[in-house]
Amino acid sequence: MKYTTYFSMGFALVLSFSSCQNPSKTFAESEVSVVPKPSEMILAEGSFVVSKDTKISLVLETQKPAAKYLSDLFENAAGYSLTISDTGTNGTIVFIEEPSIKPEAYHLEVTPHKITIKASDAAGYFYGVQTLRQLLPPTVEKEANETQNWLVPSITINDEPRFGWRGMHMDFSRHFFSMDEVKTFLDYMALYKLNTYHMHLTDDQGWRIEIKQYPLLTEKGAWRIESTHDKACKELAKTDPSYTIDEQHYHQKDGQRLYGGFFTQEQIKEIIAYASERQIEVIPEIGVPGHFKAAIDNYPFLSCTGEPGWGEVFSNPACLGKETSYEFTKNVLSEIAALFPSDYIHIGGDEVNIQAWKECPRCQKVIKDNNLANEHELQSFFNRDIEAFLKTKGKKLIGWDEIVEGGLSEDTTMMWWRNWAPKMRDKAANNGNNMIITPCFEYYFDAQNDVTPFEKVYNYEPVPEEFTADQAKHVLGIQANLWSEMIPNFKRLQYMAFPKILAMAETAWTSKEDKNHEDFQERMKLQHQRLDALGISYFIPAVSGLNDKEAFINKAVLELKAPLDGMEIYYTIDGSEPTKIAIKYTNPLEFTETTTLKTIAFRGDVPSVVKTTLVEKQHYLEPVGIKETTRAIKQWVDIDKFKVVDDIILPDNATFTSVNAINFSGYDGEQNVSMVFKGHFYAEEEGLFEFATKSDDGSLLYIADNLVVNNGGNHSAIEKNGMVALKKGWHPITVKFHEATGGGQLTVWYTAPGGEKKVLAGSVITE
Ligand code: ACM
Ligand code: ZN
Repeated sequence: MKYTTYFSMGFALVLSFSSCQNPSKTFAESEVSVVPKPSEMILAEGSFVVSKDTKISLVLETQKPAAKYLSDLFENAAGYSLTISDTGTNGTIVFIEEPSIKPEAYHLEVTPHKITIKASDAAGYFYGVQTLRQLLPPTVEKEANETQNWLVPSITINDEPRFGWRGMHMDFSRHFFSMDEVKTFLDYMALYKLNTYHMHLTDDQGWRIEIKQYPLLTEKGAWRIESTHDKACKELAKTDPSYTIDEQHYHQKDGQRLYGGFFTQEQIKEIIAYASERQIEVIPEIGVPGHFKAAIDNYPFLSCTGEPGWGEVFSNPACLGKETSYEFTKNVLSEIAALFPSDYIHIGGDEVNIQAWKECPRCQKVIKDNNLANEHELQSFFNRDIEAFLKTKGKKLIGWDEIVEGGLSEDTTMMWWRNWAPKMRDKAANNGNNMIITPCFEYYFDAQNDVTPFEKVYNYEPVPEEFTADQAKHVLGIQANLWSEMIPNFKRLQYMAFPKILAMAETAWTSKEDKNHEDFQERMKLQHQRLDALGISYFIPAVSGLNDKEAFINKAVLELKAPLDGMEIYYTIDGSEPTKIAIKYTNPLEFTETTTLKTIAFRGDVPSVVKTTLVEKQHYLEPVGIKETTRAIKQWVDIDKFKVVDDIILPDNATFTSVNAINFSGYDGEQNVSMVFKGHFYAEEEGLFEFATKSDDGSLLYIADNLVVNNGGNHSAIEKNGMVALKKGWHPITVKFHEATGGGQLTVWYTAPGGEKKVLAGSVITE
């Protein structure tokens, strides 16, 4: 992007004159933070001051929602609204139609005398206002700040989005959220120019939308006693109150305390209208034929057996051999199509227990009668029928990427979520189908922050590298999802969504070439202040500068760094959890004995993640004599014997093969795989060596008998590290690894004293 500070002499003279009358400030680049980053931004001298005398002028209906949003912002923050005149251009904030500007794009010009927003559609004006909002001080997000000076830096911005679909999803089934929370979330989306709100309204754990023809869906299907997720949240809430289930969704019904709730059709209309004022389209998801238990529980004739139930992992689906399933689905979708103005209706289609269809004579008969190859094709047979029906209502069908497996009709759009099924993208693109990229390794914001860190979200490129320009056209955009199994309240939802939502929004809007992680981190400093002003609870990483294990020989000196500017660090050395009443960090810490160090940082009352570090007194390990070297290491593999890395025991008669790297290659997608790598590591000099493993699931790294990196347990890809003191020479190394459920990955690194982090391979390994 072009990001220039521009001061022409003549311009500066004019401004110095104006600044005599109006002492407006000139902003530095570091004082301006717009996310997502605009295509072109030129900062100039001086600034515009918004006051209660500032008037907005417009002439078109399409300009009104943007103008109203801006005026409302001031009413909330400053206590006055801005007068809007719809008959001319004599205000100092002026909306002007410019037909040559693309849809959603805008041109914003701020001088000390005037603000001009040009666009060709309502979305363009609205995004001009959202940029203006971010140019105003963060306190504009707060109520009642009458004393603030509302300065907007002089600036020229030309801006347009990369993708047309910039989506966020919320799951209302696993845990429910209120109308106010939905509206608040839509406001967050607007701020970051996101334009598609995917409401996951039905699932096994609750039906959340009124369907007039089938009242039991909400009379009964919206209420539950306690789900396994509720139990898990309650257990976690014992030590982490952020997992407390929101009390407002408990109701006394039929003498029982039940969890649940649903949106009436009138409420849905209110949500759609609120979203529409913010240029957001609401896409409903009614999942069928799987994830359909809340319907089957109350209308059991829908299932193959006439009863609800579960397969090994997923719930039993609707029977696709019964006409009633097709009829029921169409009746529900008729009401949905009438209610939602969106082009698309999402029908789920993921994670179907097709075993139920294998065992069902009716389903098998449909397969046979229609010459279908298998149950995937049966699902596609159903999808095609539903799609044709939706077409009669003027709607397009969208579904999760499983719908690709049995074949797609050409108008279907798919949401790609399974990182381990990249072929679904290729199949869809080659078939001419459009897709939304929402991969679970990057854009599932319900994943813990150590599994899906902010950087991973920012750096993800959604269009596959190997896609041709023609294939790339089928990527309509991106979306992040907030599955709510373990998100039982809105504060927790904020914490999982922020600040990652900003990283995703930048990928959705800003061109690939204009993205830059370092520059983004700079802009995040001011964005954090805006999030503070909005009262958003967001994730703050741990204190940095510490390994999971810090080794020392005589004395350790540890310098800690706060994760965000201006945070205070506190720590304990007695194993207790650190809080604000722990010891405050001021100078580097010195240790001469093995100690457990726990650190935390605070931004106001918002805590960072706690970091636990074992500061360990060690002596140098002696090397072993090795004469010939192989640049390889021994690998032993076993399938189905162990369940977790911590249980792996190498048998006495283990047979090994030679490999030249420690990784999972050759076993992609396999489950229950245990591996042990054995060999030697070369310490090029005497000193403290760091090792790190990143593994999905667990891994353990030993030097001789010492556990250096403990990355045990079954989990998604997490990196852990540790240190060990080594004398120069060869040292025995063992890495154990286990993959439980598929999607395995393993990387091992080392860092020599004063060196760079390198993958463990090549001349430093031997058998
Ligand atoms: C999904 O996460 N099952 C779409
Ligand atoms: Zn059936």
